[in-house]
Amino acid sequence: MSFPGVTAYDEFMGRFSAPLAVAFADWVALDPWARVLDVGSGPGALTAVMAARNTPRRVTAIDPSEDFIAALRERLPDVAAVVGTAEALPFPVNSFDAALSELAVHFLTDAPAGIREMVRVTRPGGTVAACVWDFENDRAPQSVFLRAAREVSGASARDGRPGTRRGHLKLLLTEAGCRDVVGGELSASAAYESFDEWWDLHLLGVGSAAGRLDGLDAAAVEEVRRRCHASLGDGPFRVEAVAWTARGTV
Ligand SMILES: C[S@@+](CC[C@H](N)C(=O)[O-])C[C@H]1O[C@@H](n2cnc3c(N)ncnc32)[C@H](O)[C@@H]1O
Repeated sequence: MSFPGVTAYDEFMGRFSAPLAVAFADWVALDPWARVLDVGSGPGALTAVMAARNTPRRVTAIDPSEDFIAALRERLPDVAAVVGTAEALPFPVNSFDAALSELAVHFLTDAPAGIREMVRVTRPGGTVAACVWDFENDRAPQSVFLRAAREVSGASARDGRPGTRRGHLKLLLTEAGCRDVVGGELSASAAYESFDEWWDLHLLGVGSAAGRLDGLDAAAVEEVRRRCHASLGDGPFRVEAVAWTARGTV
């Protein structure tokens, strides 16, 4: 999956992940003194909310992208930011009171291992929580684009990535050893001035939208565009998105 640059990420996904981070932080409702780990932090949408609500020096972010971590260090200099993956967290057991992950579980090479690592580094009684867009029911920010690309290309509708379907985050947390696991849904929306603004952002090659038009000829790409336009109109408009979420106790 492609994450080509911080600016492209901010414009394409950051406009959703920033408001989602507020909803996620409200839902998880941590103690302000909690030592928090943000797994798959990207350039820091959730990290910024945690740093504002908690003591910034008690917040740590980790992401495999050196560019994202460099941007996060610039934005949040008091936060410890580390390059690394969820599947091999470079922290001892019981390092944190909470390990959170926003919009990253579906990108993990081994999601069960990543969640087990989040549990390992969290103290007994602490919180592990994650959220991922609902791709199953086409409620992700990119879903209008993905559905049109799928229909035109004839690709399969099924998105089998971890956490993208109802109940799967709850299952991952339960199987990783969490107790009292609860699930929910979180909403976030973003505004666009025009259809052209929206369309151009989907051509930046970011995340789940990347590569979806590869192999389509010009007429097919135009047909994807026409279907999206028919669905969204000229603008201005807002796109509403919904994420699955789950939290559990270690
Ligand atoms: C859609 S972004 C979410 C970023 C941020 N949490 C946010 O809400 O804006 C997905 C992130 O997962 C990260 N990622 C990909 N593979 C990962 C892995 N194995 N472990 C941890 N993070 C990973 C990517 O580098 C990217 O920053």
